[in-house]
Amino acid sequence: MTAIADVGGLVAVVTGGASGIGKGIAQRLVERGARVVIADIEAGPLGATAAEIGAVAVRTDVSDAASVQALADEVVDRFGKVHLLFNNAGVAPESRIADMTLGDWKWILDVNLHGVIHGVHAFLPLLKQHGEPAYLVNTSSMGGFVADMPGLAAYATTKFAIMGLTEALAGELQREHSNVGAAVLAPGTVRSNIARSLRTRPAEAKNTSFVQNDISQNEELAALRWLDPAEVGDIVLAGLARGETHIVTHPEWYPMVAERAAGVEAAFSRAAAASEPTETATV
Ligand SMILES: NC(=O)c1ccc[n+]([C@@H]2O[C@H](COP(=O)([O-])OP(=O)(O)OC[C@H]3O[C@@H](n4cnc5c(N)ncnc54)[C@H](O)[C@@H]3O)[C@@H](O)[C@H]2O)c1
Repeated sequence: MTAIADVGGLVAVVTGGASGIGKGIAQRLVERGARVVIADIEAGPLGATAAEIGAVAVRTDVSDAASVQALADEVVDRFGKVHLLFNNAGVAPESRIADMTLGDWKWILDVNLHGVIHGVHAFLPLLKQHGEPAYLVNTSSMGGFVADMPGLAAYATTKFAIMGLTEALAGELQREHSNVGAAVLAPGTVRSNIARSLRTRPAEAKNTSFVQNDISQNEELAALRWLDPAEVGDIVLAGLARGETHIVTHPEWYPMVAERAAGVEAAFSRAAAASEPTETATV
């Protein structure tokens, strides 16, 4: 099992690092002595955040494989190696499945899922190459454990996929006794700019059904426990120190996960009962 308790001197890359959770992770990494590159599609906030926290900025569109490869090349050119990758960039626009256009599906899958795949593809060989302790963390969500959240169906589709990809990767790495660990980050409610996700939607992805609701303005959701991004940074670094595969920010939300598991278990029980041989009457 790979665990990293001290990130001092390590080279780290955080996608979506200009804002929110990515910024919080990057900030804590810098404070603990890591050399940090933040990558983001939004040039203005990217430069401002890099200057504010003392990170290197590399403008990157995670939905574009070539852009992520260019990021990897630039990190290696500058630092020689990389130890930590946080595939964190993501968007959370809302729609019912029935209303979604194929363009909507393409955009959210391109950013949330292909963005993570591009990061894994470009960086995993680099994380393995040097043989020193390394970690790859993919940001999913509580929506990666529980899909049925109103308006967030497409989002949950991508976050379930990230959960599956990361669990599979963690298993592969453990079986090969790799120097690299893999974890999925599943945040609950965190104060960020995610409620303005549509700001980064490309112009060609018009005619959309997506809307954007700020769930922090919803009375019921506003009453939940909201974390600041830097607190998530602390939780993530503590998770790496423990060698976790699942890093959760809201442990008190476990009943939602258990409820889904209970529903699945009940379906298995009904299937088992239905497949039992029925007694046939003998004449
Ligand atoms: N805030 C929450 O409550 C919450 C909960 C669960 C999961 N998450 C996840 O956390 C991650 C970070 O979100 P956040 O809440 O900090 O939101 P945020 O909007 O504050 O930050 C997301 C960052 O990703 C960047 N980004 C968007 N598209 C990109 C692209 N194509 N290429 C590169 N960068 C891109 C944005 O410019 C932004 O800086 C997301 O994956 C999100 O799904 C957030």
